[in-house]
Amino acid sequence: MKYLVTGGAGFIGSAFVRLVMRTQPSARVVNLDKLTYAGNLENLTSVASDARYTFVHGDICDKTLVDSVMREQKPDVVVHFAAESHVDRSILSPAPVIETNLIGTFTLLEAARHHGLQRFHHVSTDEVYGSIDSPHEADEDYPFHTSSPYSASKAGSDLLAQSYFTTYKLPVSVSRASNNYGPYHFPEKLIPLMISNAMQDKPLPIYGDGMQIRDWLYVDDHCRGILAVIEQGRAGEVYNIGGNCSLPNIEVVKRILKALGKPDSLMQTVKDRPGHDRRYALTNTKLTRETGWEPQMTFDEGLQQTIEWYRANPEWVARVFSGEYRNFYETNYANR
Ligand code: NAD
Ligand code: DAU
Repeated sequence: MKYLVTGGAGFIGSAFVRLVMRTQPSARVVNLDKLTYAGNLENLTSVASDARYTFVHGDICDKTLVDSVMREQKPDVVVHFAAESHVDRSILSPAPVIETNLIGTFTLLEAARHHGLQRFHHVSTDEVYGSIDSPHEADEDYPFHTSSPYSASKAGSDLLAQSYFTTYKLPVSVSRASNNYGPYHFPEKLIPLMISNAMQDKPLPIYGDGMQIRDWLYVDDHCRGILAVIEQGRAGEVYNIGGNCSLPNIEVVKRILKALGKPDSLMQTVKDRPGHDRRYALTNTKLTRETGWEPQMTFDEGLQQTIEWYRANPEWVARVFSGEYRNFYETNYANR
């Protein structure tokens, strides 16, 4: 099996590449990544010298490049992670989000249409369902209701991918996952931001009242779920992947502070995110029924492992902090 993974140097894509290389001895992986601020080849040092792994530095919006990668590498399966993935950045600067998430996905689908593939798997998100009132949970037929340029772009690319199955019979599958966490997570997102700030005794910025609810999914559980969809799920279908772990943000942050032995007084309420979705909730029933997949990691164990990873990798964190991240942090948090 040969996988073409897009965005394989990012947080989830790199976990997927490491998982495939670890568990499928005969698999080959081609990683196509532009190396934006979020792409980091240090996430892949464990596989970089493996003959089964190839890195291609490039943009999924580049039609000529994407066509030539498809033609020369002849993948069996495309797993499409590459995206601008951060809601706050999409609010500050929507253009790259629209470019990569919509045009990039379109470029890949067009290239895939002309090359025989066993599967084109599109990695989508539970954010397409928008905010959901308790006690309801989204199944795969739940209507879309997007709030940010990020979620709107993901909704568009999700529908576009499905249209290539309906119209062109490209064997597309889509998964919609909840909030991931784990090692190598870029510290612009809630959990790694709070861990790294707390470790440095810096304030922890809580948007609004902190009672927004997210479902937390350990990154390796997500990647196993994607493999389950590719191997056992049906083309033309959508599968939710959630962690069965709904928590208000404030509870997540308190658990991080407790695990690090830091005081709750580090939390600082700041101005809310515009258009902030209140509650995400989804059900995994379809994926579990069809493939037997279930999340394996408990939140407390996953959080402990994540914290230990950040403790053990101060150089990784320091290098991320020394780059473009500093400017983003200033822009996003200075006037909150
Ligand atoms: P990330 O921001 O950590 O990584 C994105 C990767 O894509 C980076 O390596 C980046 O260099 C690459 N990339 C960006 N633009 C590119 C382009 N034009 N061409 C080629 N490569 C490009 O993202 P992530 O958190 O790992 O998310 C991966 C995917 O999973 C995204 O599609 C995201 O929407 C989806 N998702 C994320 C979560 C989450 O909680 N993080 C949950 C559900 C779904
Ligand atoms: O639900 C899946 C989505 O989860 C993915 O599609 C996105 O790619 C991913 O970024 C994530 O989106 P969120 O907006 O939910 O994640 P984020 O970590 O940015 O925020 C989680 C919650 O924490 C949200 O309610 C906003 C809040 N928050 C976030 C940051 C960064 C804060 O209160 N303070 C912060 O500084």
